[in-house]
Amino acid sequence: MADHNDVRWEHGYHPLRVRKIVRETADTSSYVLDVTEELRELFRYRPGQFCTFRVRIGDRELLRSYSMSSAPGIDADLTVTVKRVPEGTVSNWFNDTVSEGDVLEATKPGGVFCPREGDHPVVAFCGGSGITPVLSIAKHVLARTERAVRLFYANRDAGSVIFDEELRRLGERYPGRLRVVRHYDAESGHPDKTAVTGFVGAEVNAEFYICGPAPFMELVEHSLLGLGIAPARILIERFGDGGPAEDSAGDGQRETPESVTIILNGKKQTVPYQPGDTVLETARRGGMQPPFSCEAGNCATCMGLLRAGSATMRANNALEPDEVAEGWILTCQALPEGPEPLTVEYEAF
Ligand SMILES: Cc1cc2nc3c(=O)[nH]c(=O)nc-3n(C[C@H](O)[C@H](O)[C@H](O)COP(=O)(O)OP(=O)(O)OC[C@H]3O[C@@H](n4cnc5c(N)ncnc54)[C@H](O)[C@@H]3O)c2cc1C
Ligand code: FES
Repeated sequence: MADHNDVRWEHGYHPLRVRKIVRETADTSSYVLDVTEELRELFRYRPGQFCTFRVRIGDRELLRSYSMSSAPGIDADLTVTVKRVPEGTVSNWFNDTVSEGDVLEATKPGGVFCPREGDHPVVAFCGGSGITPVLSIAKHVLARTERAVRLFYANRDAGSVIFDEELRRLGERYPGRLRVVRHYDAESGHPDKTAVTGFVGAEVNAEFYICGPAPFMELVEHSLLGLGIAPARILIERFGDGGPAEDSAGDGQRETPESVTIILNGKKQTVPYQPGDTVLETARRGGMQPPFSCEAGNCATCMGLLRAGSATMRANNALEPDEVAEGWILTCQALPEGPEPLTVEYEAF
């Protein structure tokens, strides 16, 4: 029997059987997953969160995060939705090879792209597969609060719209509370600043959510900031990368070690440390391939145990205080500090 208090169990990969596959569009499918009784508590999630999946393709082990399109307490089953990415390895593997009855492996849910308390309207901008966490949030907000939801939903064309029918049904179920504006690049080109600010209109006091392709998110974020909307009211989920590089201006003043020793799969390597680099970046610079997924401090895929030295994390939305006290760090966020050389061990999960 697994020790459920063990950090390795909690942050490890857990079996989820695919109960049902729903073909959403030509290039997108949803996977309805069975969460066993033993995992039920661990897999409680908030609207907008994601799980990180570990898949084996040939002799490679790959990690990718997929957001829940289901909403907790509203949809009976935990469901993720995967859209093909051209030449993408895991998204195409999901769509081409995963069948009903297969067992996938995933981490417990994580992420902070979740609705906040309050009664402000929700205004969301999403593009393509970015609808996935936004649908989860919209279903929750409509069912559990009185707040209005407005959604600017950009797609290549009408055929690539995921959840079109479900959004229509939600609109009928909550009349006057859900407004969806569909934007098709094939008809009107990519959205521009005028489209964004026009959609916001007088709702400058709303809570804003953005998820979609990187240039789309950049456009929306800059347009919202240009309207004077406070960054704290803009929530962003990045699918592709960890986001803009953090400001490491303070690094020049901090004392840092000369080297970092990484232990991965029984191999030990010492890499000279470059101020401003995270432990994960340092390991990669040394030619190692440690595990990671979100690179934003949200999923714990990159966690490692600090064996010597000290480090501070830029963000931590995944580890509990007692885990940090034990020495666990998110290596994608950890900046070595102090004179003592750092040693970090990636433990096998
Ligand atoms: C928090 C989070 C939530 C997410 N939620 C969802 C979701 O709900 N639904 C969803 O569909 N996706 C989601 N994603 C994205 C998902 O995790 C994957 O990134 C996506 O499916 C692509 O993975 P892939 O293995 O198919 O592509 P990859 O193989 O990683 O390739 C990605 C891109 O890089 C290019 N590429 C790959 N290798 C090379 C190379 N050597 N040189 C040049 N270019 C290369 C590919 O052409 C492709 O365009 C989420 C991501 C995060 C971080
Ligand atoms: S890769 Fe997700 S927290 Fe580091």
